[in-house]
Amino acid sequence: MYPDRVVSGMRPTGALHLGHYHGALKNWIKMQAELPCLFFVADWHALTTHYDDPSVIETSTWDMLIDWLAAGVDPSQSTLFIQSKVPEHAELHLLLSMATPLGWLERVPTYKDQIEKLAHKDLATYGFLGYPLLQAADVLIYRATQVPVGDDQVPHIEMMREIARRFNHLYGKEKGFAEKAEDAVKKLGSKRAKLYHELRIAFQQEGRDEALEQAKAMLDDAQNLSMIDRERLFGYLEGSRKLILVEPQAKLTADSRLPGLDGQKMSKSYGNTITLREDKESVTKKVRTMPTDPARVRRTDPGDPKKCPVWQLHQVYSEDSTREWIVKGCTSAGIGCIECKQPVIDGILKEQGPMQERAQQYLDDPSLVRAIVADGCDKARKLAQETMRDVREAMGLSYS
Ligand code: TRP
Ligand code: SF4
Repeated sequence: MYPDRVVSGMRPTGALHLGHYHGALKNWIKMQAELPCLFFVADWHALTTHYDDPSVIETSTWDMLIDWLAAGVDPSQSTLFIQSKVPEHAELHLLLSMATPLGWLERVPTYKDQIEKLAHKDLATYGFLGYPLLQAADVLIYRATQVPVGDDQVPHIEMMREIARRFNHLYGKEKGFAEKAEDAVKKLGSKRAKLYHELRIAFQQEGRDEALEQAKAMLDDAQNLSMIDRERLFGYLEGSRKLILVEPQAKLTADSRLPGLDGQKMSKSYGNTITLREDKESVTKKVRTMPTDPARVRRTDPGDPKKCPVWQLHQVYSEDSTREWIVKGCTSAGIGCIECKQPVIDGILKEQGPMQERAQQYLDDPSLVRAIVADGCDKARKLAQETMRDVREAMGLSYS
């Protein structure tokens, strides 16, 4: 009933690096060509962990937007905005909080993990516990169907689905719902009405998921239905409630963890990153000083690529022929490590070239980014306001 839509966000807590590019942005760029996408700077989320030192957030917000644009996120295809400029997210978060059991939040695996990992910060706060619920509001407010995230975020999406289901269950009730739904079925015309009933029974009594899908597809095609009848018919298929919020799906980024300079996953907390727009000299120096197979002490010692972090980067940045040359050269001490590293340096610089170029126009004229974001905020806000009208009405808050 609601069209496919993609929503994702990132926290502005520092410069983006190539790990973000391979792990998330490449995926966003692919999706924006296929579906309507909204991408936002999760500045309120950044505050949940940086409330004691928010100074980094503002600069990171603008830098991150430039990084996105540099990477190829295209404002003519995607809507780019800043979370705090769409205050409806906060309203939905508050309303959802009323019916969210504490246990759901405490059970989210990232909650305890992060508290342990960030032990130097006091995260025994209300905001930090509520983080996944704010994230739920970010997504549900756009009735998004797909959320590109890393695998650590899958439990958050699961929780969002539960929240949406619970909301529809609690607030999608309507007096005389079944009668109203049956009236709406009649409006489908006798042939479709019969099919609707058959498919509904096949799903509800025999649990046939494909019947549900078929019925939904039929409703998608049906003309002449009012929005409210449509909501009823979708809800009636699955139960006895209107569908006000949509259950989103996690869209996992195919395993594309970029190794960092030390062979561990590239991550700011490991200090092993290359930033998206890092300058040439610095990239060259970082790769040249990367550790290699520890057994290769001297140039004449043979090495084993499998024990070398540089080799992992060759998997991302080099051609097959280069890799063959390396396996031979490394294991026979035929090539030196500096020689071996050059194709990685070249590969990274080649990847960054178009990004530097795209970034330049925005660095030269920051008002361009401001305009893109202002436009994105307007668009996002309109969508958010539509959902909030329905949410307030469902919760009995639409009196004036
Ligand atoms: N929690 C996400 C992260 O830390 C960022 C985020 C906030 C997000 N809201 C979101 C991601 C909504 C997807 C959808 O990476
Ligand atoms: Fe690593 Fe290459 Fe040196 Fe072998 S030659 S140890 S793969 S850097």
